[in-house]
Amino acid sequence: MKNILVTGGAGFIGSNFINHILKERDDYFIINLDKLTYAGNLENLAESEARKNYRFVKGDICNPELVNYLFEKYKIKHVINFAAESHVDRSILGSSIFYQTNVIGTNVLLETARRNEVEKFLQVSTDEVYGSLGAEGLFTEATPLSPNSPYSSSKAGADMMALAFYHTYGMPVVLTRCSNNYGPFQFPEKLIPLMILNSLNDKKLPVYGDGMNVRDWIYVIDHNRAIDLVFEKGRTGEVYNIGASNEMPNIKIIQLILQHLKKSDSLIEYVKDRLGHDRRYAIDSSKIQTELGWKPQYTFEEAIQFTIKWYLKNEQWWKRIISGDYLKYYEQQYLAR
Ligand code: NAD
Ligand code: DAU
Repeated sequence: MKNILVTGGAGFIGSNFINHILKERDDYFIINLDKLTYAGNLENLAESEARKNYRFVKGDICNPELVNYLFEKYKIKHVINFAAESHVDRSILGSSIFYQTNVIGTNVLLETARRNEVEKFLQVSTDEVYGSLGAEGLFTEATPLSPNSPYSSSKAGADMMALAFYHTYGMPVVLTRCSNNYGPFQFPEKLIPLMILNSLNDKKLPVYGDGMNVRDWIYVIDHNRAIDLVFEKGRTGEVYNIGASNEMPNIKIIQLILQHLKKSDSLIEYVKDRLGHDRRYAIDSSKIQTELGWKPQYTFEEAIQFTIKWYLKNEQWWKRIISGDYLKYYEQQYLAR
């Protein structure tokens, strides 16, 4: 049995990871450390909470005493760090918490892991650390880091730190850099769930700039299968890009969602662009494919349908979110444009 400290496991990707992995494997004991920020939601973990090989701990990765206590109590030798402030627009409104959680928090985890002689530390990172592409080319693991937002620069800082711990101390660190995820439990501030919910509620769909910014979309389960594989078999000191080769301009995604929900294009509203908006992301995932044998299992066409159906079926989940903090945030953002 591996005792694994999973941080940020109440958020979108982390909760999907825990739910998926606990169904697939009985050799993992997961301790989920999450601060439960606005983005953390224990409802996401309803299907896992009664499992014998799962514990939840509410707390902050920036708290060295708590982190050390957990390492000692559970004899932690394995870490997967999902915890982060993850939304670019929020990082533009206020950057401090991004550097606090994403850089200092990662440092607390790395230092504690080093003292406790961990056997594997997986840092969950993002393709945004590479910056923005022109019309051609793909991000490879050798692409120089060139982050443009407070969010992506904080993630790049954490990446450099994790790799420095490998080089300096020989710590068994491995990094994943994935493209844009979508799927169940994604907080409705991100493009796909926001557009689904606004369409359902006949609200305007705010398209930043000309709507032609391109993202490379992957279903969250495919990302999590890749994380599990890198965690098990990835070479330490290495970076693995993860992506499903599914580039799409934002406006196309929005039109698809409107078609699925049989809503009118008149809901689309072009608004002022995001500051410093990266134009295009696209991932070359040939390294993880050839070295570890991973490939995506879901097509965009099928997984976007699952996702839309999930939001249709889980109205209670998103209604509780929309009635709280999120609505205030969204309205402030929207009015400020
Ligand atoms: P999310 O915002 O949905 O969830 C983040 C989780 O971290 C929340 O549960 C939150 O409560 C928790 N958290 C925040 N600060 C914390 C702290 N100080 N201590 C403990 N817990 C804390 O994010 P997500 O979309 O699930 O992303 C998870 C990770 O994957 C992040 O590291 C992100 O950078 C990375 N990533 C995301 C995407 C994407 O498309 N969403 C793509 C590539 C990589
Ligand atoms: O690439 C991986 C990254 O993807 C992750 O590291 C981040 O955590 C995650 O938030 C995501 O970042 P993006 O900024 O690409 O995602 P977001 O959903 O915020 O925006 C996707 C695109 O849609 C982007 O070009 C901005 C645009 N957009 C977004 C929103 C919320 C709109 O046009 N309108 C909107 O209302």
